[in-house]
Amino acid sequence: MRSLIAALLLGSALATPLPAQEAKQTANLSAPVKRFGRVSYDARSLMVDGQRLVIWGGEFHPFRLPSPDLWRDILQKMKAGGFNTVALYFDWGYHSPKQGVYDFSGIRDIDRLLTMAEEEGLYVITRAGPYVNAELSRGGFPGWLVNQRARARTDDPAYLAAVDEWLTQVDAIVAKHQINADPSRRYGVILHQIENELALTTPAQRRYMDHLAAKARADGITIPLFHNDQGRNGYWTPESSKIDKVVTGPNDLYAFDGYPGGTCTVEGKPTRDVAAPDWGYYGPGGAKGGASASPDTPGFLAEFGGGWFDYWGSNGGYACNAIQRGKRFQRVFYGTNLANGIGIQSFYMTYGGTSWGWLPAPVVFTSYDYGAAISEPRALREKALEMKQLGGLIASVPDLAGMIPAGAVEISSPNIQIYHNKNPETDARFLMVAHKPSNGQTSDVFRFTADLPDGRYSVPMQLNGFDAKWLVAGVALGGHRLVYSTSELQSAQVMDGADLMLFYGRAGEPGQTVLRYASAPKVTVLEGSATSAFDAAKGDLKLDYSHQGRAVLRIEGGGRPPLTLILADEAEGARYWRQEDALVRGPALVRSATVKDGTLALTGDTAEASLLAIWAPKAVRAVTWNGAKVATKAGVAGSYTALQPLAGPADIALPALTDWRVAKGAPEADPAFDDGAWQAIDNRPSASITARPDGQPNMGMDAYGFHDGDVWYRGRFTGTPDARALSLYYGAGGSGLVQAWVDGQFLGEGETPAGLPRPITTGTARFALPAGARSGEHVVSVMVRNNGHNWDLDSDDFHKEARGLISASLEGGPGGRSFAVPIAWKIQGKQGGENLPDVARGPANNGGQYGERMGWHLPGFDDSAWARASVPATQAQAGTNWYRTAFNLAVPKGQDATIALSFGDARIPRSPVRYRVLIFVNGWNMGQFIAHVGPQRTFPIPEGILNHRGRNHVALAVTSDGQPGDALESVRLVTLHTMKGGLPVQMVAAPNAPSDLKE
Ligand code: GAL
Repeated sequence: MRSLIAALLLGSALATPLPAQEAKQTANLSAPVKRFGRVSYDARSLMVDGQRLVIWGGEFHPFRLPSPDLWRDILQKMKAGGFNTVALYFDWGYHSPKQGVYDFSGIRDIDRLLTMAEEEGLYVITRAGPYVNAELSRGGFPGWLVNQRARARTDDPAYLAAVDEWLTQVDAIVAKHQINADPSRRYGVILHQIENELALTTPAQRRYMDHLAAKARADGITIPLFHNDQGRNGYWTPESSKIDKVVTGPNDLYAFDGYPGGTCTVEGKPTRDVAAPDWGYYGPGGAKGGASASPDTPGFLAEFGGGWFDYWGSNGGYACNAIQRGKRFQRVFYGTNLANGIGIQSFYMTYGGTSWGWLPAPVVFTSYDYGAAISEPRALREKALEMKQLGGLIASVPDLAGMIPAGAVEISSPNIQIYHNKNPETDARFLMVAHKPSNGQTSDVFRFTADLPDGRYSVPMQLNGFDAKWLVAGVALGGHRLVYSTSELQSAQVMDGADLMLFYGRAGEPGQTVLRYASAPKVTVLEGSATSAFDAAKGDLKLDYSHQGRAVLRIEGGGRPPLTLILADEAEGARYWRQEDALVRGPALVRSATVKDGTLALTGDTAEASLLAIWAPKAVRAVTWNGAKVATKAGVAGSYTALQPLAGPADIALPALTDWRVAKGAPEADPAFDDGAWQAIDNRPSASITARPDGQPNMGMDAYGFHDGDVWYRGRFTGTPDARALSLYYGAGGSGLVQAWVDGQFLGEGETPAGLPRPITTGTARFALPAGARSGEHVVSVMVRNNGHNWDLDSDDFHKEARGLISASLEGGPGGRSFAVPIAWKIQGKQGGENLPDVARGPANNGGQYGERMGWHLPGFDDSAWARASVPATQAQAGTNWYRTAFNLAVPKGQDATIALSFGDARIPRSPVRYRVLIFVNGWNMGQFIAHVGPQRTFPIPEGILNHRGRNHVALAVTSDGQPGDALESVRLVTLHTMKGGLPVQMVAAPNAPSDLKE
């Protein structure tokens, strides 16, 4: 069976139902509640402390943001953006350079991260591997594991022993932060994932799963355990599932992943060629279809596409992905999921970040922006504001949790479908109005007629273009009763016993809201326009209006508390931030709002001078914004407005990068180079899945303790008269590289090709030999750049494909065939191999370039003896040359920014010239630029790595074939995102100078 990702890579977006949907399943609505301490569930929903919850989660990878203070920025943006949960992968290899060695400090301090999540008011889903996939080199397995012969992801004892090392460490941290660990804790870890998309379901895998579950329990994890099926296949459903065609496992919950929605075209245009799948109640099998492939457990999408990844050589897919899986898509697809009873959803990714250093798998380049709601430079995309509006509804209407189908409604247009659900306890309704099929893009004016809790209503509606509407009806909101509204609810709050509600709709479309009263209330239109009519027989107050800017109404009397009603168009609604103690309009972000001693302390960001308006409890007498007092006056309907707009950010003056120095960085090519300390290649055993020619030694880099980045080989051979060419079989990941020299003379380079569906990760490079090589003693030097180990998506040990040289032979014997000439090889990779000299930056930071081994990448390296150079460089030299410069930044205090390094002409994805660059900023490897492959030219450097108020050092390892023009293009600093506000960010502590490195 093809995996989910492979299917996607081939362009079929899994719109067709998977076989398990044909299984005879029914949601077992009478399934008993299963309890795991404070967390419990039945077939309808998850519960915390017995309260049903919709879990609205977003995926974030701490290892893709190596600046821990900024983790809080992401968590705050998620919380303010309407999410109630963050899902976290942990990357085993990121914490373990060597078997038995683990690090959980600094940028790896996940204990700190989990504390932050709790402080910011988010539930947490932990996904701790051992295997995570995640477009990481080895799918998150540590480098040393590829030397293990035991088949990974089975019950082989050697593999399980390795896994247990990691789990013992990480489980202890997870266990400490589970919500069950402290009865007074309001938030914490609520769900824990034990494996990732394990598609093989053999007895060995079952025993492996049993081991993982038992280990989690033995380590004190008491919350529900789950596994994410790669599609809705019914793999690893809980033991209690007694339905055909499912594979059971030791998990408590069944979860699956889905990335439907079509892909972008190669020209980078979004497609709308797929409708939202019904993966639950409304799937094949009808309303009895069940919310999951597991009838006793609630619908659970552990990953649903919040974007998609991009690959070497693309035309730049992230901008398109942000649209393809962006505004409207979220409404249509996530809403269809919710309507189908999938009350636990997590969007992958919500912040993608940066696959810095040697983190990326061959399928991706450095940026893991993913087109996610929060962009790589930490900006809220337009789609994030839509998520805020949807999340606001979920937070305002607890009745949405645990809904079941409520029966069909009558619709006057064949172009429309409405999912109609109810809460069995309160009878509140959710009406998800979509096109039929849901990717339809017509504009429709229609009515639907339905028996709602407050009577039978015929409701006028519009749905224009690709869109959906999430309506609620028959629901108690504070002291009020909403009969129905054709506007979408963004926020309902109670302050001092009065109600405050914010509804929104598409600009220019009409809206109708009906509220119920005992007697006619008094309606005052304070701003904008709306008409009202009271039907005394029913007690219905009907409001009609157009969504245009905003209307503000005050409704008093009628037997209910006073109500302030804000009726906004979508863009106006997006300006509001719902916080526990306030509703705030204006700034680009409101991170927090806390009332203490009569002062409302607001924190947040402004993108420009911004008017501030606030609805807050009466006890509030003073307001601060980021700590500074804000003078206010009374505004509309009990609000306060600031007398002066809040200031926006200042321009950031970025220095030009000048004063470059350069040094030659490939001395290994020189026949006189001293490789006396290098390891000799020998016949040690190999665990690789890559076969090598009989009799050849084991040349693979991993066997010598070098797992990431560049590796050098030097060999000595005696020339033979037939030798015409050198043939190198090598493994190098996606867009990997091999360069070769004989006796210091550059022979050329080879690359593994970029692109989909799967990058080709091994290759053979042939180089003509100089005539002199036909006799005498010679030195061959080879550099292989390993652009990542494969993932193990199909659990076939694909991550053990060889890297570095696999075999080498001379060619030109009789008939031009290759023949083996003994070459005495030596190898050198990363300094120290698995014994890291730089623990703070960790295993992914360095490979084995000479300059890296000498610490040339470090900020404190003294380059004063290097030659001065100008950039753009005019001359190319074969091999690697290092360029260094330094600059000062003076970002104003209290201003957030993401500053990036940009190469060449940002308008084109690929340069006409061939070269590549490893980008070191203050010693951190922040990515790889491959000029002729692309598409990434601009590399964001997070604050904390970059010093925003002080000195910074850049070191570029530029690798070229030396052809004219194949030289470093212009390099400049650019600001990708800036806001007034932000959070204080400390520089990440790490070795400064070569002398700080551990021996
Ligand atoms: C999922 C997988 C994730 C990630 C995602 C695609 O199938 O579980 O780890 O690889 O696909 O980005």
